[in-house]
Amino acid sequence: MKNTILTIQQQKIKKDKISMITAYDYCAAKLADEAGANAIMVGDSLGMVMLGYDDTISVTMEDMIHHAKAVARGTKNALLIVDMPFMSYQTSVRDALVNAGRLMKEGRAQAVKLEGGKEIAPQIKAITEAGIPVMAHLGLTPQHINALGGFKTQGKNEAAARKLIDDAAAVEEAGAFAVVLECIPDTLAEIITDRLSIPTIGIGAGKNCDGQVLVCCDMLATFGDFTPKFAKQYAQIGSLMKRAFKDYIGEVKSGAFPADEHSFRMDGEIAKKLREARND
Ligand code: KIV
Repeated sequence: MKNTILTIQQQKIKKDKISMITAYDYCAAKLADEAGANAIMVGDSLGMVMLGYDDTISVTMEDMIHHAKAVARGTKNALLIVDMPFMSYQTSVRDALVNAGRLMKEGRAQAVKLEGGKEIAPQIKAITEAGIPVMAHLGLTPQHINALGGFKTQGKNEAAARKLIDDAAAVEEAGAFAVVLECIPDTLAEIITDRLSIPTIGIGAGKNCDGQVLVCCDMLATFGDFTPKFAKQYAQIGSLMKRAFKDYIGEVKSGAFPADEHSFRMDGEIAKKLREARND
């Protein structure tokens, strides 16, 4: 069944938890889609887990479009959401519209995600009114890493928690169809989830959100630079990959690879002639 913003919103009503996984290439997208993820997100986390930056600040529109195109080709049933990178929407409502449009037209996104609350409500409203569904993102918003002073849990004191509750109301009011809550106390996420009529998708926000999202490279342990506390590793693909690479390198050195079954044959007579011709 094709997931759309409507089916995802109905999941909140039916209390059917929403599953979202990030993907950055065709193969991972196809596997996540075939596994039955409701949504696949091309997160700007690709700057860290695919491109090796320390944060998401340097990710460009071109990076997002390049990866979104590949993910779109592997995605059939999941809703495809693509992140708007740093400074592609903060600068003006017009920039936000133009860049959201590019992610849809060139990247084949079915929705876009923006980080921020009240301050970007005009952008959310304009993009939504242009027919582009918007997912909002509150709490630990990695594009604000320099203002936040690091990857830290948000909304821990009363004022910060109240601000997040107000921001959640503002993004819903502006037209967002769902909101990611990242790295906030589980009780605060539960309060926000109860107050909103749009789904909340948690990452480090406890079990009471309407759905969950994980970065594929965290859940598969292919990204080893650091593992956030909230990321559960479902498989040790990173160590399997390293083992396979080592085995291959060893077999190349020993001559065990390629074996006969990996090689191509030619007619023995032709081979003989070619060998003899070389000696002429
Ligand atoms: O960039 C990203 O991957 C994200 C998800 C974790 C929601 O924003």
